[in-house]
Amino acid sequence: MSTSDLALFGGPRAVPEGLIKPWPEIRDEDKQAVMRVLDRGILWGAAGPEARTFEQEWADRLRIGYCLTSNSGTAALHMAVASVGIGPGDEVITTPFSWTSTATCILHHNAIPVFADIDPRTYNIDPQSIEERITPRTKAIIPVHLYGLAVDVDAILDIAQRHGLYVIEDCCQAHGAEYKGQHVGTFGHVAAFSLNGNKNLSAGEGGMLVTNDERIWQQAARLQQFGERRVKDGSREYNAYGMGWMYRTNEMSAAFARSQLSRLDETLHVIRENAAHLTSELDGSLTYQTPLEPPDRKHSFYRYSMLFTPERAGIDVPVEVFVQKVRAALSAEGVNVGRAEFVIPSMTLFQEQTGYGRGCPWTCQHYEGAVEYRAEDYPVALDTIKRLVSVIGLKPPNGRKLMDSYIAAFHKVFGSLDEVLEAQ
Ligand SMILES: Cc1ncc(COP(=O)(O)O)c(C=O)c1O
Repeated sequence: MSTSDLALFGGPRAVPEGLIKPWPEIRDEDKQAVMRVLDRGILWGAAGPEARTFEQEWADRLRIGYCLTSNSGTAALHMAVASVGIGPGDEVITTPFSWTSTATCILHHNAIPVFADIDPRTYNIDPQSIEERITPRTKAIIPVHLYGLAVDVDAILDIAQRHGLYVIEDCCQAHGAEYKGQHVGTFGHVAAFSLNGNKNLSAGEGGMLVTNDERIWQQAARLQQFGERRVKDGSREYNAYGMGWMYRTNEMSAAFARSQLSRLDETLHVIRENAAHLTSELDGSLTYQTPLEPPDRKHSFYRYSMLFTPERAGIDVPVEVFVQKVRAALSAEGVNVGRAEFVIPSMTLFQEQTGYGRGCPWTCQHYEGAVEYRAEDYPVALDTIKRLVSVIGLKPPNGRKLMDSYIAAFHKVFGSLDEVLEAQ
């Protein structure tokens, strides 16, 4: 029989039911923005007034030349890959520790993903490991600013420059993240953002591509709309100049995103305050590490990630078991915790190399290399995935009250670790 008041054993939750407010927060002004579209009666089109204004507003915010909206971050990544001329036979180096589409966008244009390992403290792609994976077939690097922490931009740009590679930034988790005072997405040749319902800037679903290069923007626009050329005044020729998809956004999503964008600074301020409060109250434990924020970077905390290190505290329990038990105890207390399940190369798609069928693009005659995807080739990513747990719920209107209850939950769970670890 337990003596503690852990929620795991029937005690009161540290985080009361209903305290976590859902994201995105929908205010009257958001509803009015969507109503404005319905009143106007223009619901669609690459040249729709909301989509075009949103593109301009995002480009202005980033101080970048061109922006193109899409119906997902995955579509924006695919447009980005195509826009720099990547195709059959090319290899693209990316991280094994990200969302699936970071790698599948490469396959979407018949190229071959090659994975580099990650840095154990930032969880981002390790520049040294990139360098080790470069071959004569390498055409580009896709670094991901994971959880809202910028990658080591200077090191990656340096590698790209020395080897003549394109840099496609996956900023899908990184609205508001900065490196040396500059917004991510503005360093490489082209970048992609997601606007799905989890993101710090959300349209429900959606994406954006940004670049300073008009030619890249024009190539991306072909994919966005049936292979057509994008004409600035919005008129259309209806000729397919190349392969195209239908990746346009719609006016209601764009209007909603614009409304959310108008208070992105407020959103980021709340998220950063929440993260700082968690770190100031939870830091200093040997049992876990709070997120790193190097002095040259501004984290946007899409996720607040904690790395569990029981062995540092002399706890002799396999790390997987430790994480599973602590996660269960935190969840029981009401903390919203999540975790990544796979390193991408260990997913069935990569293990079986099915692709488009018949092994394509790996078996494509244009591909002169051979890749094998062995999870053990990414030891840091494998170790990290075992240990990393994300704390979710830092976005507004959640604030100090929720963070205090999260902190109380951590103190409860880590104050009764013996019982948590003994629980079946
Ligand atoms: C790093 C990363 N890349 C790409 C994507 C794909 O974005 P979307 O879900 O909008 O297609 C996501 C979204 O979850 C992501 O987190």
